[in-house]
Amino acid sequence: MSKSLCNIRFSNRKFSTIILEKNQLLSEHLTVQNSPILFGCRTGICGTCVVRVRGNIAPPNDEEKEVLAVIADGNPEARLACQIYLTSDIEIDVCEL
Ligand code: FES
Repeated sequence: MSKSLCNIRFSNRKFSTIILEKNQLLSEHLTVQNSPILFGCRTGICGTCVVRVRGNIAPPNDEEKEVLAVIADGNPEARLACQIYLTSDIEIDVCEL
């Protein structure tokens, strides 16, 4: 796999792996057809897109941390999918946190 590409895998295997260029906003490439993730605001406010992420991505900024503290009770793998910039391969789990 080229270093400029990232594999986006879903623990829900009904959805195929997606391959995207690095340094892109993940949510710009996800839809209800290609992923199990639901989005609301897509601006990091509503918390609809909370997921569990395994992989080496940048940590959440302060605004994302505030939302995650409320909706995910400090789970270190919890992230808002709409705030993820791709820097490496990741696996996403949308099950309950
Ligand atoms: S869609 Fe609202 S926080 Fe991600």
